[in-house]
Amino acid sequence: MKKLILSSIAGSVILLSCGPKSTAVTGPKYTSSEKLAQGKTIFENSCSRCHKLPEPTKHDNQGWINTLSRMAPKAKLSDEQHQMVYDYLISVNKK
Ligand code: HEC
Repeated sequence: MKKLILSSIAGSVILLSCGPKSTAVTGPKYTSSEKLAQGKTIFENSCSRCHKLPEPTKHDNQGWINTLSRMAPKAKLSDEQHQMVYDYLISVNKK
């Protein structure tokens, strides 16, 4: 059962990433230190409201795509903020 759920999640991620006008975060975009610093600030301010601030090393690049797509709406991030937080996280997760 768990396998079934996981594979349907993976399936919808692939479908989403092929969508023509999807703005969902599917990979890195920003590398400038300015954007990464902004992402860090948003992360620290928005992601510690409901739980302890997670370690960026908790997930690899793909893992953060999945987790952030669930958490960004909870934190009410815009697509732009979602992207900056993602790019910050993968800039420090060493994966
Ligand atoms: C409105 C409350 C809320 C906000 C804001 C929020 N979270 Fe969460 N988060 C939760 C809840 C509830 C869980 C546990 C249930 C779950 O995993 O969906 C969770 C679980 C997690 C987990 C553990 C599960 C996993 O996939 O590793 C991580 C990591 C996480 N959040 C990261 C974040 C990040 C990053 C942000 C900022 C973008 C954020 N959260 C903002 C409520 C929130």
